[in-house]
Parts: sequence; C-alpha cells; structure tokens
Amino acid sequence: MKPRLIVTRKWPAAVEAILAERFDTTLNASDTPLSPDAMTSAFADYDAILATVSDRLPVAVFPDGEARTRIIANFGVGFSHIDVAAARDRDIVVTNTPGVLTDCTADLALSLILAVARRTGEGERQLRAGEWRGWSPTHMAGAKVSGKTLGIVGMGRIGKATARRAHFGFGMKIVFFNRSPVDDDETRAMGAVQLPNLDDVLAVSDFVSLHCPGGAENRHLIDARRLRSMKAGAFLINTARGDVVDQDALIGALERREIAGAGLDVFDGEPAVPEALKQLENVVLLPHLGSATEETRVAMGMKVVENLTAFFEGRPVPDRVA
Ligand code: DGY
Repeated sequence: MKPRLIVTRKWPAAVEAILAERFDTTLNASDTPLSPDAMTSAFADYDAILATVSDRLPVAVFPDGEARTRIIANFGVGFSHIDVAAARDRDIVVTNTPGVLTDCTADLALSLILAVARRTGEGERQLRAGEWRGWSPTHMAGAKVSGKTLGIVGMGRIGKATARRAHFGFGMKIVFFNRSPVDDDETRAMGAVQLPNLDDVLAVSDFVSLHCPGGAENRHLIDARRLRSMKAGAFLINTARGDVVDQDALIGALERREIAGAGLDVFDGEPAVPEALKQLENVVLLPHLGSATEETRVAMGMKVVENLTAFFEGRPVPDRVA
C-alpha cells in the first residue's frame, strides 16, 4: 500500500507528477486553502500532510487523540505557521525546504531595496496613469543605494546571500545582528561587522533587511521604539515574516516620515494588507514573492519529495525540524 498523502495547495506540475507516481496522492487542483476543519480531518485520513507557508496549523487543528498523519512535509523554509510542539507531542515529524530558496529570496530583498529607494513603483504608477510630464532635475529624486550601509537582522543563509549581493554588487557596508556569533570566511570576505545588539544595527543602517524567523520568539521584534531608533532617512525591508514587525507601528512611522520608506514582501495576517499601507507612496508592497521563480518552486517541491521518500523508506529525513 502506498502512503496516502494530501497536498494542501496547487504545486508545480512536475512535482505533482512525481508525488502522484510515488504515493497515493490527493491534489488540490482548485488551489483553495483548506479550512481548519478540513485540516483536522486530514490528520485522520492521511499519512502525510503536505502543507505550505499559507496554511495555519496551530494546536487547535491537531486531533486530540491518535492521528493517522505521521509527517507534515512543509513546502517552504519558514515553519512558524506549524505548532511544532503539538506535532512533537503526537510523534509527527515536521520537515521544511532550506537552501533552495536562498538565492531567489535574496534577489527579491535586493529588488525591494532598489525599488523603494529609487521610487520605481511610484514612477511606474505615475507613468501608467499618464501623469509623467517629462524629465526634470527634481523629478522623483530618490535615495542612492550604492555605498550605503545595510543592516542585516538574522545572518543565516538568506541574510548572508543578501549581504553578499549588496556588498559585492553595490559596494554597501554590511553590519548585522544575529543572536549567536557569526565569524566565518563569508562574513569576513565582505567585511561584515557583527554588532552586539539590534539597536546598534538600527542606529547606523541606511537600509535594514530582516532575515530572521517569524513566530513567538521574534514577534514585533521591530516595534515602535525600534522604528524610532532607525535613521530618519532609512528604509526597512522585510522578506522574512510579517509578524516580525509591528505593522501598525510601521504604518505610523511611515506616515510621520520617521523612516523614509519600506519594502515589504510579507505581512502580518497576509494575504490581508492594511488599506493604510496601500495608501502610502513611500512603500513597495509585494505579494510574498521571495521564492516565486519556476526554478525555485520546483526545487522546493523536490525537497519535499526527498523528505517524504526518505521518511517512508525508513531512512534519515534530510530536513527534519521536529
Ligand atoms: C518560505 O519558504 O518560508 C518562504 O516564505 C516562501 O516563499
């Protein structure tokens, strides 16, 4: 008997084909997210739940008694949407997909840095609206990116990849905050300086780019006080998780121009995005596109396939997080 698994969203066709060949697979052709009740039923009906970062798996959706599910194989590196303690308590393995989305997420962080500083969203909106009156010395002057200081919060794979692009591509100076010391060839090669606390990074950075996990430990890490400690001309970039930033405090800081702007790919409570954010010109807002390239999404799916195949063959699971 092939293990029975449910895929909670529509996945790249190449990955779905392999899943359907190797497992007894229920796909989600309509791409409609599962309701909390459907998620709870999935624990009773399937050996594996193939979740994504758009699903919510708090303890409330886990069954009280015995679950049929033995593995939650997440399509995504972040797993703060899964209550891993609830999974552990029920002997359910949880896996993620690290590594394969590093480059694309870092590429997107750089595009947000450039877009918000150089006002490209604003410029395009103006042109498409037929409101461009031609070149002028004072037209839409933004902030220079090259040579500025980039503060990285969370110097893991994606933080380093972002810093590398910024330093070697744009001559930016790199400072960073990370809970544990990071001193390796890669950080040394870009002259990146680890500062003892987050406030020090915020105080000296022209751009602050967030690359730490979401969830309880980092909830509202960037709050009203920390936003005030950023430079007045600084920009906040978030490709990590929406809950890392106190979104209301950010809106206030942007409205009062306490910081110059923000480039956001993630939102607290996404896909809902506050109307107040959409009204602001000094923000660039993207619909969680960090890993959204054909190549990366297929690679993420293939990582899930590897994790599941190893699990059901009784081999060590490569990307086990619980
Ligand atoms: C992840 O994998 O955690 C990303 O946010 C998905 O793009």
